[in-house]
Amino acid sequence: MKITAVVGSPRGMRSRTRRVVNFVLAGAKDAGAEVDLIDLADLQVTPCTACESCSLDGTCVFADDLPAAYDRMRDADGLVLASPVYVDNVSGQMKVFIDRLADAMRYQNFAGKYGCSVATTEVSGGDAVVGYLNHVLNYLGVTTVRGMSVTPGNDPEALDRAEPAARELGRRLVLAVRDRPRYPDQEAGMAENRQYFAGIVRANRDWRTDEYERWVREGWIGEE
Ligand SMILES: Cc1cc2nc3c(=O)[nH]c(=O)nc-3n(C[C@H](O)[C@H](O)[C@H](O)COP(=O)(O)O)c2cc1C
Repeated sequence: MKITAVVGSPRGMRSRTRRVVNFVLAGAKDAGAEVDLIDLADLQVTPCTACESCSLDGTCVFADDLPAAYDRMRDADGLVLASPVYVDNVSGQMKVFIDRLADAMRYQNFAGKYGCSVATTEVSGGDAVVGYLNHVLNYLGVTTVRGMSVTPGNDPEALDRAEPAARELGRRLVLAVRDRPRYPDQEAGMAENRQYFAGIVRANRDWRTDEYERWVREGWIGEE
């Protein structure tokens, strides 16, 4: 079992978000998972230009670091999305990354995985960012085991204090991948999303036949 985290801070090794995520991954590792960390500070990811090329065959016109990160996420059983709070939202780096996953969302390429989210903030906005990242995971077809936000402010020990809860989150994610608990509140929203995306999959079936057939096999679309 593999858990892959994506950290959206530009601060690399100095990132507080990365530190909390490392605790989450340590908890996942202790629970038996192999772990992987994708740090957006190390990657070049070009913003989506809405050229719609990906709607033809799923590939992007930009040959940057996104496809390799995408493959690592696709290979995982559990996903962690993490971002610092920037003006009450995710960082620009994280938002650019999320936008580039639009085709994976439409085709529900991550469906069946479990996930959770992490945010750190100076004063406020952490819970809203965790909520947003979990919403993105649901869009991707990923069921979440919730998440956590940490507000270290000027307290240098706040991150250390967050370690037990972060490790527990990692453990909870591993157990969810193993036991596949159901979350009816999320299932309803995700079914609604799939109904919307089904219209796109159906409309594109002549040139995205493999994906269309996968959707039919999954029972997400009625065979016509
Ligand atoms: C551009 C920018 C915007 C920020 N906006 C907020 C904010 O709206 N609310 C807040 O409480 N902290 C804000 N912060 C502080 C960061 O969220 C906080 O320091 C976070 O822990 C940094 O995480 P990192 O070390 O992983 O990059 C902002 C920081 C930056 C650089």
